[in-house]
Amino acid sequence: MGKKFKIAVLASGRGSNFQAILNNIKSGNLDVEINVLISDRKSTKALEIARENNIDTVYFNIKEFPSREEFDKAIAEELKRREIDLVCLAGYMKIVGKLVLDTFKNRIINIHPALLPSFPGLDAQKQAVEHGVRYSGCTVHFVDEGVDSGPIILQQVVPVEQNDTEESLAERILKEEHKLYSKAIDLISKGKVRIEGRKVFINE
Ligand code: GRF
Repeated sequence: MGKKFKIAVLASGRGSNFQAILNNIKSGNLDVEINVLISDRKSTKALEIARENNIDTVYFNIKEFPSREEFDKAIAEELKRREIDLVCLAGYMKIVGKLVLDTFKNRIINIHPALLPSFPGLDAQKQAVEHGVRYSGCTVHFVDEGVDSGPIILQQVVPVEQNDTEESLAERILKEEHKLYSKAIDLISKGKVRIEGRKVFINE
């Protein structure tokens, strides 16, 4: 039997995307191993979910490190030591440092609740509602040094209704996030994703 494709999930909060990945693994729809859940916050739902499911957890408190570089180094070392194949950001609220990006070049992905490059950064669903767009959605992309700016892997469109609020739109987008993220992880784990500059090619 071949070695399982190992992923690490980095989360700062609620962890519903993490939970969805876990559910897809349990139901046999995704054949990867979640090796570790890393959080930059001490008490998060994501950490709880990991513990309940016997997944290793690591909490990195940035305040305990003398510098941002040392914090990044600790994360990179942890991921290297565990021989992680793919790092999945799921509601991780910190910018990923250059050292981690260089160590895991093209092996860090993120999910964002908008159709990038529209509405990057915080409150993407609110931005979409306030702008009055007819369609929003979610995007899985590779992480680069910018904010939500890396090469796009998959996107799912979600129509915006006239009476949508930030909350109602966020809820419908989240349902799609939960499917899209696992799909992207599946494709990458099967070697079906190739990146060339800004463009991502998928061999289905
Ligand atoms: C999601 O909307 C994701 O797109 C964004 O942060 C949120 C995290 O939610 N990056 P959760 O912690 O996975 O529930």
